[in-house]
Amino acid sequence: MLDVTILTIFPRLFDSFLSFGNPARAIQAGLVKIETADLRDFTDDRHRTTDDYPYGGGTGMIMKPEPVVRAIRHIRGTKGAPKVILMTPQGRVLTQEIAEELARMERILLVCGRYEGIDERIRAFADDEISIGDYVLSGGETACMVLIDAVARLVPGVLGADSHLYGESFYNGLLEHPQYTRPADFEGMAVPPVLLEGHHEKIRRWRRKESLARTLDRRPDLVKGRVWDREELELLEELRRETRLTELETEYGHIEDDRERTVQDGPSGIQTGRHGEGPCEDS
Ligand code: ADE
Repeated sequence: MLDVTILTIFPRLFDSFLSFGNPARAIQAGLVKIETADLRDFTDDRHRTTDDYPYGGGTGMIMKPEPVVRAIRHIRGTKGAPKVILMTPQGRVLTQEIAEELARMERILLVCGRYEGIDERIRAFADDEISIGDYVLSGGETACMVLIDAVARLVPGVLGADSHLYGESFYNGLLEHPQYTRPADFEGMAVPPVLLEGHHEKIRRWRRKESLARTLDRRPDLVKGRVWDREELELLEELRRETRLTELETEYGHIEDDRERTVQDGPSGIQTGRHGEGPCEDS
């Protein structure tokens, strides 16, 4: 079971977040344990101060090291040795891969920074630093919620039995294919006929092709250096024939150029090779 402790000056912020959806379900099912720790409980002054002015001057307040380190030591003492993760825009950027890595851990302690920054010496007590993207939030709390959401849904049992099918996009490194629900015609926009025909193999192939097209269109960075399997190469060829690769013709050109290369040619360009068979091959 994954045991998460959140160190924050705003524990109440998490009340509603942890009361709904997957995080709540995961907690209720006993698959995840999530507790908050109030940073102010680790202060030693009457005002429960957690911040102070920056040395060297400047605007904004800095998170003091003593309460944070006292809290980390206390939690370590009572909870064994959690992996201490600092939420900060300077950390490694959260990806599905990092979420998977964290979902396999037993204990994590998420430290939410606040104010204009943290005292640099706090970093010496963290095992990892995670950012949720290249923008600055008012504090680590919302980042922490994003991380918990991404991680909790990966803990086995939190989603349904066929959970490996959800979010397939990121399990095989591609964006998800378009999805539709009723009505079959919405204001003149029809659902692609293949989805109404009930031919499962055709649907699987269509979805894979649309995943590829969408990824090349919106996030070509995701497939840089990808080892394409045979079916993907076929689908790319179909997309090219349908002139659906447009500006990405250049990108696709590389794919073709590299087709004669093999995996051992190294990481330059896009490589060919085999991922396995079927839609869930990488999950
Ligand atoms: N704290 C402030 N901004 C942040 C970000 N982008 N990611 C994680 N923690 C943060």
